[in-house]
Amino acid sequence: MAQPRCRSVLITGCSRGIGLGLVRGLLAASPSPEFVIATCRYPEKAQELQHLCNQYSNIKLLQLDVVSESSIREVVKEVEDIVGDQGLNCLINNAGINMLASLEEVTAETMLTCYETNTVAQLMVAKAFLPLLRKAAQQSSSMGCDRAAIINMSSLAASMQLTEDQEMYRTVYPYRIAKTALNMITRCLSTDLKADGILCISLHPGWIQTDMGGNEAPLKVQDAIPGILSVLAHLSEKDNGAFLDWQGKTLPW
Ligand SMILES: NC(=O)c1ccc[n+]([C@@H]2O[C@H](COP(=O)([O-])OP(=O)(O)OC[C@H]3O[C@@H](n4cnc5c(N)ncnc54)[C@H](OP(=O)(O)O)[C@@H]3O)[C@@H](O)[C@H]2O)c1
Repeated sequence: MAQPRCRSVLITGCSRGIGLGLVRGLLAASPSPEFVIATCRYPEKAQELQHLCNQYSNIKLLQLDVVSESSIREVVKEVEDIVGDQGLNCLINNAGINMLASLEEVTAETMLTCYETNTVAQLMVAKAFLPLLRKAAQQSSSMGCDRAAIINMSSLAASMQLTEDQEMYRTVYPYRIAKTALNMITRCLSTDLKADGILCISLHPGWIQTDMGGNEAPLKVQDAIPGILSVLAHLSEKDNGAFLDWQGKTLPW
């Protein structure tokens, strides 16, 4: 997200994996955003983030459990104090969970837990930050992350077309369905917020070696992050409502 400059970025789920990688990538970018707001459930346990706080003055570490309404309310107040009248430019809804379950194994409980964290939470977080995103959108005109944007971390697993008949996706019922619903949130927000100048996309970050992606994934976090940040930096009005991958390719729903 180097050019043009995005003043403030907030990322959910930064304790590890892709979220942590995005924080590192943004802090190392030139120019780096004025505020890289890294949120996680347990800041007191997030050693890597604490280490980054000692190294960089533009990182702000805040507590956010995306399924907690009170935590969301609290973090919005804290972010308002940080970004002030210029609002929040870019919200990256990254936090997520994967719950493995085939048709035989799936339960209402796993479906609901996965839906709560991967779908409902993203909508509630986006809704709570709308006043700050609208403030940011009022500062400039052309659409993009330097103005106001919501990035929903989706997955190729959510694509009905690309995953049809693929054996490996048969065991991820709750995750796939929750991410497909997240894609619909992207479509709804991209329509509803267009007039405000707030862009919204779904992003497949690539299959990446993280706790969720596993060791067999072809990409390491540090190799995928530059591509993701480049895609975000180049978003414009034509991308509003799109489902993109980490190389900027449009994915079919
Ligand atoms: N890795 C891949 O190959 C891949 C592929 C496609 C899409 N994605 C998506 O990319 C995003 C990041 O994935 P990842 O691979 O980095 O996963 P990960 O290594 O499992 O990390 C997940 C992150 O989400 C956080 N999180 C979970 N529940 C949360 C909650 N209620 N509130 C706040 N944070 C919460 C975790 O925090 P704690 O440490 O507190 O648990 C952790 O920081 C996810 O949305 C995932 O679906 C990943």
